[in-house]
Amino acid sequence: MKEPFNPFVINTYQGKDYFCDRENDLDMLISHIENDRNVVLYAWRRLGKSALIHRLFEELETSKGCETIYIDLLATQNIDEAIQSIASAIYEKYGRTTSGISASIQKLLASIGATINFSALSSLPEITLGINKSEQPSQSLKALGEFLLSRKKRIVIAIDEFQQISDYEGNKAEAVFRTWVQQIPEVRFIFSGSHRTLMEAMFTEKNRPFYQSSQLESLQPIALEAYTNFIIQHFQTAKKTIEPDSIERIYSWSRGQTYTVQLVCNHLFANYKKVSNSDVDVVFDQILKQQQAVFANFQKMLTRAQWNVFRAIAKEEPLQNPLSKNFIQKHNLGAASTVSTALKALEKLELVIKDEGNYLVHEVQLARWMASL
Ligand SMILES: Nc1ncnc2c1ncn2[C@@H]1O[C@H](COP(=O)(O)OP(=O)(O)OP(=O)(O)O)[C@@H](O)[C@H]1O
Ligand SMILES: [Mg+2]
Repeated sequence: MKEPFNPFVINTYQGKDYFCDRENDLDMLISHIENDRNVVLYAWRRLGKSALIHRLFEELETSKGCETIYIDLLATQNIDEAIQSIASAIYEKYGRTTSGISASIQKLLASIGATINFSALSSLPEITLGINKSEQPSQSLKALGEFLLSRKKRIVIAIDEFQQISDYEGNKAEAVFRTWVQQIPEVRFIFSGSHRTLMEAMFTEKNRPFYQSSQLESLQPIALEAYTNFIIQHFQTAKKTIEPDSIERIYSWSRGQTYTVQLVCNHLFANYKKVSNSDVDVVFDQILKQQQAVFANFQKMLTRAQWNVFRAIAKEEPLQNPLSKNFIQKHNLGAASTVSTALKALEKLELVIKDEGNYLVHEVQLARWMASL
């Protein structure tokens, strides 16, 4: 891995040195793996689920003798594309040998009707699934599973954005995947997703295939104290300074959301040697300005009533009772039934969330922008 220019990374996992804390979460996940339990890792957006999986995988590969496979289903629309993603991940992991493509992987891919194509543009291999076998997703999964079982080491698979499968046509993807997981009991699974409500529903509703099949772990924000130490240490290493007081303001403005804390610190680190509270305010403003075009789109996406309720929640958060007379009158929201309908729609889209009894605008930067309107 290349060293980043800025120690506050905002894209991906860049190694332990740039990863703050999460030691307890890491221990918890390792303990599940070491005791043969599958895990569901869920959280509100951008708290660091995917990065934590990469951090965990580094640990499992280097000191626990496991082989790890990371699969992201975000861009998949149907079960064939999901299988394609899984096949690609397996190919990435095991396909390349010093003398070319591994024979067993070639055989495996052929058996599921997949072919490897080399893209002329990137020269990266791309796996495409042949149409002949695509009506047989469970057969393909079975073949992939058998290959995994033939490996000597313990295999851990993370399927990120797993809620995606509940969107596939035909409604049977959950059952097909559940069967697959049961066919390969020696393989450990981590299911993760950025849509918390959908993830919870998949694993807690009685009539769903994945009901009670895994340990549910909800990821919380990194504690302020741990984050403070991490931030100060990176500033100090570069002979820069930031006060705990400023960090506390960043943390609360970001509601402890990892991505936003990282983004603010990334800008502060880039632009200042000795960070003052007014520098922090400048960066808050800059970040919201940069995002303005994106934020303005939300207004176009929503009905007028939804937008008004949405903005009012941003101004009042944390809000306990969105149907109270006080709240409705103060923001001119009309009839309580209108507010209630708008709120339901916003919650369904996960634009508004209910966290420990309080209503919040999910995207914290959007919330800060709307509150300033
Ligand atoms: N412990 C950490 N220390 C430092 N940076 C982190 C940490 N965890 C995550 N990040 C950074 O925060 C950002 C968001 O993390 P990540 O993408 O893992 O979140 P997520 O929960 O998977 O988000 P999404 O809901 O969009 O899937 C990333 O840029 C990542 O680099
Ligand atoms: Mg993620």
